[in-house]
Amino acid sequence: MSEATQELDALLPELTAIRRDLHKHPELGFAEHRTGAIVRAWLERHGYAPRTAAKTGVIADLHRSGLAPTIALRADLDCLPMPETTDLPHRSVHDGCAHKCGHDGHTAILLGVSALLARRRNELGCNVRLLFQPAEEGVDGGGAKVMVAEGALEGVEEVYGLHNWPGFRSHRIHVRAGAMLAQTHWMSIRLFGVGGHASQPQLCRDVIVAGSHLVVALQTVVARGLGYEGGAVVSVGKFSAGTTDNVLPGSAELEGTVRTFAPDVTERVLSRIREVVGGVASTFGVRAELELAPGYPVVMNDPVCTAAVQRVGAAIVGAPQVSDVGLPIAGGEDFAYMAQATRGAFFFVGTGDESGGVPTCHHPDFDFDDTMIPIGIRMFLGLVDDHIARRASGRLA
Ligand code: NI
Repeated sequence: MSEATQELDALLPELTAIRRDLHKHPELGFAEHRTGAIVRAWLERHGYAPRTAAKTGVIADLHRSGLAPTIALRADLDCLPMPETTDLPHRSVHDGCAHKCGHDGHTAILLGVSALLARRRNELGCNVRLLFQPAEEGVDGGGAKVMVAEGALEGVEEVYGLHNWPGFRSHRIHVRAGAMLAQTHWMSIRLFGVGGHASQPQLCRDVIVAGSHLVVALQTVVARGLGYEGGAVVSVGKFSAGTTDNVLPGSAELEGTVRTFAPDVTERVLSRIREVVGGVASTFGVRAELELAPGYPVVMNDPVCTAAVQRVGAAIVGAPQVSDVGLPIAGGEDFAYMAQATRGAFFFVGTGDESGGVPTCHHPDFDFDDTMIPIGIRMFLGLVDDHIARRASGRLA
């Protein structure tokens, strides 16, 4: 067993304990105070001078001087506003808050990376910037945008981020150049009709019937609005109207999400949504107010950085375990802002099994798979070494 492997193995019990402690004490976006304190204390213990960024995030440079060139590695800190249904000893102690996306694991991975890099501080010919980002799950537009605006990516040549993914087989690396995750849009539709007695529909303008037709019609935006290649998702996630059985309400509210990967498709889908909402409202004689607000942009992976992930992944998990199967994914990620600020790549590490029965991210039964911690650490360390090797041989571009 190599010295590096021994060092990593020796760290795993402590990292696993920290991961489970974070899971037990989840914190929402821009409220990661306890989590941030744990991260800062760990970094200080390993010789870093961490600084606060994006309200509750933490940044630390391997070299205090900030010595360029710099490669950045990112983890996300926040949990989701949802319940936990597991019986785990480390289940969430905060009602309605839970680490159901595995950001507890991503944080533990980057802490492990920081400890192992610190031991090589004097021999590494580049700076490594560790980005512990708050609020990935979308509070107030997310934490990555704030970090970028504060200059966290200035002078950074490459940035990498990872995510566990139970939808892919355990310890496989999924990555592709170009679009990796989707552009998101928040959709809100408010319908205004005429309420009244449910026995006298002829005197009303029924927003429930109009809204029901609208939900169905919105499903044709992709199915009939795009060609066989598709490339978009339109989902209605909320439909609320009415108070009781014998009253037709005067208004209804719908909310949904739109996911796309290319500007021309985005434009087409949004314009069809506007037409469908206007058309259905007019058909049923109700008034509609539609809002479409852009969320996170597409995560665009740089080809050079993607090749680095593929190379490092092949060395760590074996070339056949590295693929672009199942990509892009229609989820959104604010790593997109970091990959816009400098070149970068985001990749998935599979945590699923053959049965497909492992709870997905955002499922109340989900728990981060701790066996991914060493893979994530080795991937990040490998990317640092790959960057340094390319730099040394003049093959960085
Ligand atoms: Ni996530």
